[in-house]
Amino acid sequence: MQVILMKFFLDTADVAQIKLYASMGFVDGVTTNPTLIRKSGRKQREVVEEICKIVKGPVSVEGIGNSAEEIVKDGIEYASWAKNVVVKVPMTLEGMRAVKMLSAKGIKTNVTLVFSPVQALLAAKAGATYVSPFVGRLDDVSEDGMALIGQIVHIYKNYNFATEVLVASVRHPMHVVIAALTGAHVCTVPPEVFGKLASHPLTDIGIEKFAEDWAASLKGK
Ligand code: G3P
Repeated sequence: MQVILMKFFLDTADVAQIKLYASMGFVDGVTTNPTLIRKSGRKQREVVEEICKIVKGPVSVEGIGNSAEEIVKDGIEYASWAKNVVVKVPMTLEGMRAVKMLSAKGIKTNVTLVFSPVQALLAAKAGATYVSPFVGRLDDVSEDGMALIGQIVHIYKNYNFATEVLVASVRHPMHVVIAALTGAHVCTVPPEVFGKLASHPLTDIGIEKFAEDWAASLKGK
């Protein structure tokens, strides 16, 4: 596993949100999926090309299909849209074949819908650039999503895999905290969760009190 800084990706296809957080220097990359593209109400190519102009880092776009050939066909097309496109590949055996084929063409991959440590091991062995374990969806079915992140980081460190662990399906700030404590390379955060990262009630109370005291001090009270 490479030693690198933790990165934040934004998990959205909402261009206004990407621009907002990019203006603060927080957006190292973007992840999309068909659901997020649909939510944007825009055509996939148009919105991805716009995102790729705003964000210089990796922008994941999902390849669709059951066979490696179908996924690779999508991947080759997406990669022609912008040079920072990363192709999301589903965690299936055909998907692993697609990872090999795309890597051979110099196209980066993000293996998605990962729910177990052995799936992550296969993705790394296949040469994926990123692996995306979906932590929130595991929590939804009474499993421990962040425990999976710990296992994957451990396995990748044992064997010095270059594949980066991209924590996905993030639902709340504690997912981000544990991702950082665990040493995951990337956390892809939806805008609604990102908004919560800077907040603390004691910060709000403190700002209000300082403003009140400042106003009073101006009046000499
Ligand atoms: O980008 C994929 C992932 O983050 C999806 O999250 O909330 O639909 O489980 P969610």
